[in-house]
Amino acid sequence: MARLPAGSVDAVFADPPYNLQLEGELLRPNHSRVDGVAESWDRFEDLAAYDRFSRAWLSEARRLLQPDGTLWVIGSYHNIFRLGAMLQDLGYWILNDIIWRKTNPMPNFRGRRFTNAHETLIWAARGRGARYRFNHWAMKNLNDELQMRSDWLLPVCGGPERLKQRGRKAHPTQKPEALLHRVLLASTAPGDLVLDPFFGTGTTGAVAQRLGRRFIGIERDETYVQLARERIAAVTAEAGKGSADPALLATPGARDAPRIPFGWLVERGLLQPGDVLMDARERYSARVAADGSIAVDGFRGSIHQVGARVQNLPACNGWQFWFTRRNGERVPIDLLRQQIRAEMN
Ligand SMILES: C[S@@+](CC[C@H](N)C(=O)[O-])C[C@H]1O[C@@H](n2cnc3c(N)ncnc32)[C@H](O)[C@@H]1O
Repeated sequence: MARLPAGSVDAVFADPPYNLQLEGELLRPNHSRVDGVAESWDRFEDLAAYDRFSRAWLSEARRLLQPDGTLWVIGSYHNIFRLGAMLQDLGYWILNDIIWRKTNPMPNFRGRRFTNAHETLIWAARGRGARYRFNHWAMKNLNDELQMRSDWLLPVCGGPERLKQRGRKAHPTQKPEALLHRVLLASTAPGDLVLDPFFGTGTTGAVAQRLGRRFIGIERDETYVQLARERIAAVTAEAGKGSADPALLATPGARDAPRIPFGWLVERGLLQPGDVLMDARERYSARVAADGSIAVDGFRGSIHQVGARVQNLPACNGWQFWFTRRNGERVPIDLLRQQIRAEMN
């Protein structure tokens, strides 16, 4: 990290050692051994050593981020609170903590504690007031038109996605691609450069490659590096078959779309003066005027003002509230707006 130039990356995703402090072997009730994280890379002499290590890479990550870039770090109760405090001490500005709730967590075999069924991600801007990227529309689209919440329900990495060597997990903590898909889609744009300083099997690289983002991966274990290379090469080969149309990798936000005044629908003949608009449940109806205003019971105003007035609300998004009829079917007026936008592109 020290060799990379300052301000050179758009996002950092880090899945650092958790410092699990595992003691002895963990056995299932049938005495089979649990594949825990016993590797040397997860061992630190004490908490102070872990903190020194964490502070060093978090400082470097902040140096490498461009001013509006953001950092994601994932961890468990063993380390995430320490990392959260450090982020704040180093000048980062925490935007969210995300709970990744596992659909299929490992049970607590000894029955001495609750099943540890989640991990936490912290999402932070480089500093307070940064104009960081959040792809609100992409997240809404991904979530069936509802705002994406901060609790994500996803399975742990398994099935054909889980890399194996000689029948055993090739890496103890391979993350699911779905998790990285959401992270990268939420906070980066196609072409952005993402750094993963703890690359492991290259999950970040594989997903970045598929989503048209660039990446840098750092990993100290040569076996994992080799696994990551092979995995990413397979994704590249798949993309080479032409499956990734660049236009489909970006989600234009509301601000990127050209503004269409409601009056244009009338000007262009998509609606006629006197046409009736109604809400989804047909409780209210309004008539369209030639100048692009609408009227209900003597009150005349924009689609937003009249929508707010009839519902007795301070504000209303008229594009989403009002509908019209086409061939007997109720259709949102937003569809007519999209028609004009499509013609403009
Ligand atoms: C929790 S794992 C990351 C797993 C990865 N997200 C994946 O999906 O495969 C942490 C990784 O960091 C690597 N690592 C630990 N200390 C490191 C260091 N100082 N420099 C580079 N890599 C390191 C480990 O070898 C391990 O593969």
